[in-house]
Amino acid sequence: MPAAAECERSGGAAGARGGLGGVLSGCVGGGGGGARAGAVPAAVAGAGGSVHRVAVWGGGGVVAAGGGGGGHRSVGEGRAALGGAVAGALAYRDLVPRDKRFAREFVHDANAILGKHYHQTSATVAALKAKYETPVFGKARVWDLIQKLSLCVDETDASLFCTDQFIHVQQVLEGMERDGIQDHDLLIAALIHDVGKVLLLTGELPENVLGLTGRISESPQAAGLDHVVFQFGHGEMVYSRFKDHVPEHLAWLLRYHGTDMADLEPFLSEKDRQYRDRYLIPFHKYDGGTKSYNHLPKIQLAKYRDLIEETFPQPILF
Ligand SMILES: [Fe+2]
Ligand SMILES: [Fe+2]
Repeated sequence: MPAAAECERSGGAAGARGGLGGVLSGCVGGGGGGARAGAVPAAVAGAGGSVHRVAVWGGGGVVAAGGGGGGHRSVGEGRAALGGAVAGALAYRDLVPRDKRFAREFVHDANAILGKHYHQTSATVAALKAKYETPVFGKARVWDLIQKLSLCVDETDASLFCTDQFIHVQQVLEGMERDGIQDHDLLIAALIHDVGKVLLLTGELPENVLGLTGRISESPQAAGLDHVVFQFGHGEMVYSRFKDHVPEHLAWLLRYHGTDMADLEPFLSEKDRQYRDRYLIPFHKYDGGTKSYNHLPKIQLAKYRDLIEETFPQPILF
């Protein structure tokens, strides 16, 4: 089995559940910024020492790490296989998934998680809300929380497969940049909307973090979403941590970014409708529409770090 495929497997599943940090970053498409730099040793270690060479894509060509072991090409061998292409260039065939088994496994495991997520009861939701009234990390800088997303893989999102959530955030930002979006609220939402997924790093069960935010109860007609009981997940988590630090409409967007508005239509208040049209619909275009498991976004991260530092100059309680 190719070493890279081994990496995809071990990083995606084990890493997301246990928060194994750098292991995830060794996956195809994984690791953003600094996380990518640590990918090779982590991936080697993650394979339990049996894999001696690990291919890492995304840094400009195939890199072979370590020595010995068969079954995978070194840089030199790779060059020969390219038949005279520029030394170190990456062949297109290296990006084609090598084993459909992993895709099937991914979908199987994702459905198991989603099945449990959709069976949350009002009692489960109440218990989780109570549990997270206590801070998880204590005081944290918002940018640090965003960077933690490089350690998080959404095991239920086959549009991203093993791609980490920090890359997802960058893909959303890149999509907004491409369309000339300059709305401060939408850019901040792009940066922090999935920060609740850092609960994956604390041992929380994935079914309590991932998946869409479905409705558990109804509310009186047009009474508003704040009267509906929803499944607990990363939307509620991020809302609870940011509601005192952002304007009301942005808190609303964070809370309901993973909801299905068609299902909620009868319960929407006038305010919900305004926020939906003004913020949620434009946001969904980029949150859902830019996902890719093999596109490395090209944005200037420093610019967005500055934006976060300006918006949240003080650490927040998370
Ligand atoms: Fe989300
Ligand atoms: Fe997202």
